[in-house]
Amino acid sequence: MDTNEEIWKSEERIKRWASEAGVREKKRAAQLELIAALLPFDQQEAFTLVDFGAGTGMAARAILDFYPNASAVLVDFSPAMMGEGAKAMAPYEGRYRYVEFDMRTSSWPEGIPAPIDAAVTSQCVHHLPDDRKQGLFREIFERLKPGGWYVNFDPVTASDPAVEHVWQRVNDRFDPQAAYRRLNPSPHERTQRENHVRYMVDIERQLAFFRAAGYEAVDVYWKQLDYVIYGGRKPQA
Ligand SMILES: C[S@@+](CC[C@H](N)C(=O)[O-])C[C@H]1O[C@@H](n2cnc3c(N)ncnc32)[C@H](O)[C@@H]1O
Repeated sequence: MDTNEEIWKSEERIKRWASEAGVREKKRAAQLELIAALLPFDQQEAFTLVDFGAGTGMAARAILDFYPNASAVLVDFSPAMMGEGAKAMAPYEGRYRYVEFDMRTSSWPEGIPAPIDAAVTSQCVHHLPDDRKQGLFREIFERLKPGGWYVNFDPVTASDPAVEHVWQRVNDRFDPQAAYRRLNPSPHERTQRENHVRYMVDIERQLAFFRAAGYEAVDVYWKQLDYVIYGGRKPQA
């Protein structure tokens, strides 16, 4: 059973998720800055970023900080998440707006700008089945301006069980409670975990989806164990 929608639309879960956001964002600060730097704009340039599965806007805020004249469209399917996001995004009033969109469909609402200057996804593509990962990558590509970038920050699976074992061992060093939680999950942790891994796939498959969609300069621009930042750009005309 796919519990993704129920989880991300639950007010209670979103409150809990948002209460942990500060720690998460601090931990990811360097990666978020790298995502911003990968976008090929002058720092004073005005452009519009589209952050898909934006949640409370973690990636969008990092990019808006890096480019003070940029604005952002935050796309998500969860009214509860957008409600929390309005609080986190308050200092950016006038530079952002939310658009409701379920990435499991290809019925893009008019609120998503076209063409798109730059697109990012952070920690959400792994919630989509493969046909929708491919669909989303293609649909973003079709709408991107020539030369426009799409960058994805996401967890991935290992295709080799020995590698997965190494990732787990090293991750456990940085989070000594992780092994206990894995063996003794609360009901909340169990459903979160199942939802986290349901559609997660390895990086090779995702790079192949990217290249098949037409992106160039495709690379894994950062990687640590099971987390990657990869992306590419639409070729100039
Ligand atoms: C783990 S959170 C990540 C949020 C944010 N991008 C970040 O990095 O902090 C996953 C987000 O994806 C959104 N999401 C999950 N499935 C979605 C879908 N099918 N369509 C649109 N948004 C979705 C959730 O509502 C949630 O905000």
